[in-house]
Amino acid sequence: MSPENSYVPKTPQNFYELAWAKRLEFVQSLVDGGEDNAFRIIKMLERHEEKFHLSAESVLGEARDEITGDVVKQMQILTGRAEWLPVLPENNTDYLPTGAPPTTENSFLGSKISVPAYADLKSIVAHWIIEFLHDDDKAIVELGCGYGRNLFNIHYLGGPRDLPYYAAEYTGSGKQLTALLAALESSIQMRVEHFDHNNVDLGFLQGEDQILIFTCHSIEQVKEIPASYFADLARVPKKITCIHFEPFGFQISSDDSISTAQQELFVKNDWNLNFFDVLKAAAEAGSINLTHVYKDMIPNETYSPTSIAIWRNF
Ligand SMILES: C[S@@+](CC[C@H](N)C(=O)[O-])C[C@H]1O[C@@H](n2cnc3c(N)ncnc32)[C@H](O)[C@@H]1O
Repeated sequence: MSPENSYVPKTPQNFYELAWAKRLEFVQSLVDGGEDNAFRIIKMLERHEEKFHLSAESVLGEARDEITGDVVKQMQILTGRAEWLPVLPENNTDYLPTGAPPTTENSFLGSKISVPAYADLKSIVAHWIIEFLHDDDKAIVELGCGYGRNLFNIHYLGGPRDLPYYAAEYTGSGKQLTALLAALESSIQMRVEHFDHNNVDLGFLQGEDQILIFTCHSIEQVKEIPASYFADLARVPKKITCIHFEPFGFQISSDDSISTAQQELFVKNDWNLNFFDVLKAAAEAGSINLTHVYKDMIPNETYSPTSIAIWRNF
């Protein structure tokens, strides 16, 4: 696959199609060089991303809006070119002798924090899921899983071996990379499926009657989820528990400086603005049983801390 010179409107979905394709290229080069262990490869990719971030080129131009179908004279268009650029140290500090910035700026429970290089924040979600899983859960599902990073982490950090892991994702390149990594690991039952938050369909689930579903910073990429989003998920004829690890703190309350800045960032980037309202409405209507909400519980970049919501349909 070559995403080069495929001009498309700069939507979050088109961005991720390109971003996962670029990571697929990186992983394929490791596999071609003889790497055959998915855990090693994911860690090598994560280490690469400590030093480099992906930058996708975009230009202003005329294109058709993918949602309305209207031709727009001036919109940001992805050119298909993307490159890895060095992550710059913050606060005028020097790079470590390893080549990584010494800290990254983050926030947690409403305060800014500095996190040391190599701190493994990316595994927090996997630890949550492993500890939260119930003995009766017969499958684990991530909706909007990218290349399945969280699911692989759950497996490698001691999650159950005898359950199917459903890797549900919107982009073709994300699904392709998940499948490539899963093919290297015979002890994980990974099932790669299509999923669109704008059109909920869990028809791919098989006979399992009790299921743990989670999302991690994927609903964030959909400006407005449908009003029926949670009712549509809850309607699946199975017992489901859902945990959302999403950056919706500013939607709970926006009276602190982190939440105010988060709101501005989300408006500017066309990221999600209605998760919490739709969630509360579903709980009030009795479509779901909302059990827990935690604001800004996991550090994830200064203005995108992760909040958590848990609900079930039984
Ligand atoms: C920030 S990444 C997170 C990926 C993964 N959950 C993780 O934590 O590594 C956002 C993901 O949301 C996916 N996404 C964007 N729009 C989506 C949609 N409409 N339905 C499902 N997934 C979507 C993107 O393709 C991308 O994989």
